[in-house]
Amino acid sequence: MCGIFGYVNYLVERKRIDIVHTLLDGLQRLEYRGYDSAGLAIDGDKPNEVLLFKEVGKVAALRQLYDSSNTDGDKTFVSHVGIAHTRWATHGEPSPLNAHPHTSGPLNEFVVVHNGIITNYREIKSLLESKGFKFETETDTECIAKLAKYVYDLNKHRDLDFTELAKLVLVELQGSYGLLLKSIYYPHEIIATRKGSPLLIGVKTEKKLKVDFVDVEFPDFPDISVEPASNFNDSLLVPGAPDLRRSQSRAFVSEDGIPMQSEFFLASDPSAVVEHTKKVLYLEDDDIAHIYDGELHIHRMRREEGLPTFRSIQTLEMELNEIMKGNFDHFMQKEIFEQPESIVNTMRGRVDFEKKTVNLGGLKAYLNTIRRCRRIIMIACGTSYHSCMATRAIFEELTEIPIAVELASDFLDRRSPVFRDDVCIFVSQSGETADTMLALQYCTERGALTVGIVNCVGSSISRQTNCGVHINAGPEIGVASTKAYTSQYVALVMVALSLSDDRISKRARREAIIDGLSKISAQIQEALLLNDSIHMMAETDLVNQKSLLILGRGYQHATAMEGALKIKEISYMHSEGVLAGELKHGVIALVDENLPIIFLATHDSLFPKVMSAVEQVIARAGNPIIICNKGESALSKLHKTYRTLQVPATIDCLQGLLNVVPLQLMAYWLAVRKGFDVDFPRNLAKAVTVE
Ligand code: AGP
Repeated sequence: MCGIFGYVNYLVERKRIDIVHTLLDGLQRLEYRGYDSAGLAIDGDKPNEVLLFKEVGKVAALRQLYDSSNTDGDKTFVSHVGIAHTRWATHGEPSPLNAHPHTSGPLNEFVVVHNGIITNYREIKSLLESKGFKFETETDTECIAKLAKYVYDLNKHRDLDFTELAKLVLVELQGSYGLLLKSIYYPHEIIATRKGSPLLIGVKTEKKLKVDFVDVEFPDFPDISVEPASNFNDSLLVPGAPDLRRSQSRAFVSEDGIPMQSEFFLASDPSAVVEHTKKVLYLEDDDIAHIYDGELHIHRMRREEGLPTFRSIQTLEMELNEIMKGNFDHFMQKEIFEQPESIVNTMRGRVDFEKKTVNLGGLKAYLNTIRRCRRIIMIACGTSYHSCMATRAIFEELTEIPIAVELASDFLDRRSPVFRDDVCIFVSQSGETADTMLALQYCTERGALTVGIVNCVGSSISRQTNCGVHINAGPEIGVASTKAYTSQYVALVMVALSLSDDRISKRARREAIIDGLSKISAQIQEALLLNDSIHMMAETDLVNQKSLLILGRGYQHATAMEGALKIKEISYMHSEGVLAGELKHGVIALVDENLPIIFLATHDSLFPKVMSAVEQVIARAGNPIIICNKGESALSKLHKTYRTLQVPATIDCLQGLLNVVPLQLMAYWLAVRKGFDVDFPRNLAKAVTVE
């Protein structure tokens, strides 16, 4: 998905080349989100000049474009604002023209980078065209820059400050946005704002901040421009005198009265900020951040009851090495091998293995309400949906509450009934998936209690749910989700354990699961030892196949679905996860001596039924690959004839955590063998922020 990065230096002398590299490096950190073009805007040599560089393809291509432009890299700027963007095409093909930043016109008076979609851009565009503006691109974003110019010209005589101008523009926009706005009329100033699309600001100052929060500022004339103009006539003029008072941001007050050197890093994702500073402020929807004179100010259009009147400056937990590949060839590979550790981080401080208890701070106050609910609906997309499927049975068993598992898009398409006494659990790695977000809004509107199971701290889903659990898997960069899946799985099991901890009848089962959890990290480590044999199997047996089936039932149905999704996503091989019980109802027609069929035949109460499916396949000359437990005696006859991948045994409801590992490795090695871009598979984005 699109990525935003901005860099502001105030009284910190920087060469242009350093500014450009900061912007490009920031974009590079966002590459994992998926994109097809990139661009940046910086100041030119003359006053009031803004230079744009835009290129199709990777950030490296943009770097080359800049390098070949003969721009004077040695020119220094004491204060400067640069903005940059990676674009994932939605409106208009990937092209330098459609790439961001977008401009108000040939003089680049206003330039903007934008994530999200302006749904009323056609109306804005035709109104601006009627005022003489010429649109050059197919994008929705261009209308923002041109609207800013129009509003500026209309109010020229009034000396609006940048915030006031931004308010007049934003009030006209419908849809979602995270955006940065830069203008030659407001040199060294930047506007950053969001509605439904994440944006955070990293702060680096020469001296310690006075306070670790920024006050929210409200207008003195609350009636100014809080309603959109019905058409672009004089209603875009500020009524009365503009508020020329410039407030001071308490955090940035310098004790000695000498202006404080500062740098600001604005990004749609903390991974682009962490190498510069760990002090960050997450913007809320409708916040308008205005940075000028080394100070960060947060404005809102109007005062809203009950909402906090300050924004905290928090410390990022993320470490730089978490977003670097280290000794691995790909992020996905690193993340597969991180699982023994990431899973421990999910449980850290929450599971007491001695006392056999689970304590989830983010849910504690809500447990009784959840226990009393009419049903639990788990809602997610893709891999996150599979983690819900994987844990549904243990939820039902431990809580005895009816559990529905829903794909967010289908749930919304059906306008499924939701009631005040429902609890809706939203599972998402990114916390920004549009379908899941829309489902969250839908359930919130209907009064259900909403719970988030999210990896990205500060993401929209984690902020907009009533309560929840961060899975603490650490940044997941590979587009194909791996460690987030296993951590979501564990987090959901922990939620089920917490919900049932008032039930004596479930105690033995609960304790057995907690025992299982205590060993699971070491067992994942053991499953990872299959790496070499799976590498070999992918190279020799599987790489030339067109299709592959994965069969499992009970707990392993979700594993089959998840394994098949991984293989599709990065090796582009058709693969299907099938419920083993459905084999005889149609899928068996595909069986021949060529089609690889992977069985998830680890030991649980359904093992005999899975084995009967294996026999059915063998009877039709099929050639199964069997994922089974180490030393599984029932398979001893088959070991010699058929290929097996042996994983450690754990309790039934956790076995999926181990069985998925060989499938992740298989997907990885198939993609590597085929020479595909493992971390950036074609057509996919890390966070799918469009419907
Ligand atoms: C996983 O490998 C996929 N890239 C995809 O299915 C993903 O799980 C899905 O888009 C949901 O994303 P989320 O967890 O960030 O909400």
